[in-house]
Amino acid sequence: MNKVDVVLGLQWGDEGKGKIADFLTPRYQIIARFQGGPNAGHSLKFNGETHVLNTIPSGIFHPESTNIIGNGVVVDPVRIKAEIERVIAAGAKVKANLIFSRKAHLILPTHRLLDAASEHAKGDAKIGSTLRGIGPTYRDKIGRNGLRIGDIQSHNFQEKYNIIKKEHLALIGFLGYTDFDIDFLDKEFFEACDFIKEYRLADTEYLINSKINTHKILAEGAQGSMLDIDFGSYPFVTSSNTISGGVCNGLGIAPQHIGTVYGIFKAYCTRVGSGPFPTELNDEAGELLRKKGNEFGATTGRPRRCGWLDLVALKYAIMLSGVNYLIMMKSDVLSEFNEIKVCTGYKVNGQFTNEVPYDLCVDSVEPIYETFNGWSEDLTACRKRSELPDNFYTYLNFLEKELGMPIKIISVGPDREQTIID
Ligand code: GDP
Ligand code: IMO
Ligand code: MG
Repeated sequence: MNKVDVVLGLQWGDEGKGKIADFLTPRYQIIARFQGGPNAGHSLKFNGETHVLNTIPSGIFHPESTNIIGNGVVVDPVRIKAEIERVIAAGAKVKANLIFSRKAHLILPTHRLLDAASEHAKGDAKIGSTLRGIGPTYRDKIGRNGLRIGDIQSHNFQEKYNIIKKEHLALIGFLGYTDFDIDFLDKEFFEACDFIKEYRLADTEYLINSKINTHKILAEGAQGSMLDIDFGSYPFVTSSNTISGGVCNGLGIAPQHIGTVYGIFKAYCTRVGSGPFPTELNDEAGELLRKKGNEFGATTGRPRRCGWLDLVALKYAIMLSGVNYLIMMKSDVLSEFNEIKVCTGYKVNGQFTNEVPYDLCVDSVEPIYETFNGWSEDLTACRKRSELPDNFYTYLNFLEKELGMPIKIISVGPDREQTIID
């Protein structure tokens, strides 16, 4: 029996999932996104060009691959129309190779407005959402109030839309948010829905299950484990299950079909948006990580907060998803640091622990660090393990020992080619 393999992020997102999904795609025939939506920004680099994908799976640039937007994803017609047009212009075969689940929920213009209004109302306590309407759309899904892609094909779609829109506008008014032109937003939305209708809409759970034994399938996650709705740093999280459990719900496959779980992490940590971040560096080292790692959001352009690698959080994420294949990204960014730190435990309210506390937001968490000597060598041209400097090895060996498994892929730059696999 073939298994569905999974690529997911083990930190706070932006680990490099897009690069790795694209890198692994030649081994797979189907690439499927199972959660999230256009809050994601997955960067791929090949032939000297960078492409950022938001909702489309990262296999789209391989003409032989089928790319599925699963039922667990939330889709904004306006954004995906623009994204499809962008990737077609970049040479991808989208009509033939992209399939939407009819059960994926639609992000309506008023979901985006609700996201903005709710963040505005929260003031300093805001989540720092990407303002893509993610939270309000999943809220309507769980509240049994949403619209799905399949509804676009129904004769009374506009009627259903108007009922929800009316409710949303009342709420938006209550939150005192007035800065929008609803007629323009409606027009843009319906034009985009007409555009989507021309693509393949299917009950993808049947499609995927019918291909499990004959095709190699890769499920691509968005965001990261510490942004998971259940296990992340709640409430500073996204609104979906980003861990491997989300694959079953988000694609409609049974747990016994899950195979290799590729867990991706950066050689350090970043976070964008608000919320706790125990190893955050608000000093020169943090500034240097941001500069060298070009740590600015692929979706929103916001500067990412940077800090040292956090093994407490990483081990938690590995446990939650049953990760059995580790991939370390952005190793090149650590060159030229005199010393590199790794957090191996926390002191929470004065007590040592190696577990993530119930509420990272209220407990005082002090990271405990192990310090390593840095290396001056540039890693970006390394293509074999044997070319990596000794001090890098010391760092790598320590991580492998702590994490209890080998790190099988080491990424040393954004390009497909800058990937070392043993
Ligand atoms: P994703 O959301 O997990 O797909 O990650 P993003 O694309 O948002 O952010 C990762 C960023 O790091 C992108 O700009 C990538 O091009 C870049 N990147 C990926 N791997 C590496 C690497 O090994 N080294 C460097 N320097 N950049 C990388
Ligand atoms: P990829 O797939 C990093 C963060 C936002 C915010 C919180 C909630 O590129 O790794 P949301 O818009 O989902 O309601 O925002 O989650 N966030 C991400 N951070 N990478 C992402 O995606 C993210 N998607 C959401 O910054 O803190
Ligand atoms: Mg990203």
